[in-house]
Amino acid sequence: MSPGVVVTVVGARPQFVKAAAVSGPLRRRCREVLVHTGQHYDDEMSKVFFDELGLPRPDIHLGVGSGTHAEQTARMLERLEPRLAELRPRCVVVYGDTNTTLAGALAAAKLELPVAHVEAGLRSYDRRMPEELNRVVADHLSTLLLCPTETGVSNLAREGITRGVHLVGDVMRDVLERFLPQARARFEAWRARGLEPGGFGLITVHRAGNTDDAATLGAVVSAIETVDDPAVFPVHPRTREALKRDGGWKRLEACRGLRVVPPLGYLEFLGLLAHARWVATDSGGVQKEAYLLGVPCLTLRDRTEWVETVADGWNTLLGDDLGRLGAAVRDLRPPDRRHDRYGDGRAGERVAELIAS
Ligand code: UD1
Ligand code: UDP
Repeated sequence: MSPGVVVTVVGARPQFVKAAAVSGPLRRRCREVLVHTGQHYDDEMSKVFFDELGLPRPDIHLGVGSGTHAEQTARMLERLEPRLAELRPRCVVVYGDTNTTLAGALAAAKLELPVAHVEAGLRSYDRRMPEELNRVVADHLSTLLLCPTETGVSNLAREGITRGVHLVGDVMRDVLERFLPQARARFEAWRARGLEPGGFGLITVHRAGNTDDAATLGAVVSAIETVDDPAVFPVHPRTREALKRDGGWKRLEACRGLRVVPPLGYLEFLGLLAHARWVATDSGGVQKEAYLLGVPCLTLRDRTEWVETVADGWNTLLGDDLGRLGAAVRDLRPPDRRHDRYGDGRAGERVAELIAS
């Protein structure tokens, strides 16, 4: 075992954001070896986050690329195992709920290395979502379970996990608070292109449940067609492929007031979100960021793991009837208060402290 070495395994867009909160504090306490699995590889899905968020370059790049769940996860396991066996770190850190999370946790646990799961305990209770399977397995393999919310802590208790569980707050909040001023400044370019603060919506879609079935994706496109407000839709590569295959792309291009753009860097995206009147999304991270920014969220799913956002009236689940989107946008009535749900902006410090100790 290398006493001072901690291996962090990341690979997908939201994990670069989360690691940006932890990597700095961790490196003040131990030697971090950053592993990028290569799950996301386009510059706009990976490099831009390292550049903007000041994340150190990966020490190891596994270059797994895309594939079916089994192919992608298997390649990660195969390439991670020898690296972890050689490094024998004191801990392996994984984030969230992607195939990268699953592979990192499984490879480490099989080598009897302690696993720290950042964003532990979240549940949508929908096992059709690959992310739910990844989370459940990662939690059950972890030694240190670092929960963003009290809900996370109680979800774990219901599954009999109480040891090693810590409520640390949400690491994405740390990053949001740190970069918000820069992100707001980035909005000026959009203002110059005609977007009025508070006068437009933002849309993201990438969940397999919405993209992989042509009829459901068609319903998402039809829902977007019912929206009156101007809107910006940065399109995830999975969704772009599916829209081009199923004919939705042309329909979106024909929508008046809709700007269909490539995936955006964190600062530009956050700048848009901070000035939006509403956001429609199936992303986990975006639902929570919208809450933190006080932007009403219309979630294109029928369940969420970020249940507090719904309970507080800031998030509406439209998954059972996507056709309500246009009306929901017209009738927005956000409540006047929010609660301090997601920590205090210092979750990264707590995570690093717990890992180091
Ligand atoms: C993954 C995660 C999801 C997370 C999302 C964040 C899993 C099971 N899913 O979904 O939980 O919310 O990342 O964005 O891990 N592609 C590119 N360029 C890239 C990356 C992907 O073109 O840089 C295309 C490929 O065609 C690929 C598809 O997008 O097959 C899906 O990518 P993948 O990483 O498998 O899943 P995501 O949908 O991105
Ligand atoms: N995001 C971004 N550019 C985009 C869309 C999202 O920078 O075009 C950011 C967003 O602000 C959040 C993270 O990516 O921090 C969320 O990632 P994603 O929606 O891909 O994954 P999820 O949270 O659903 O796992």
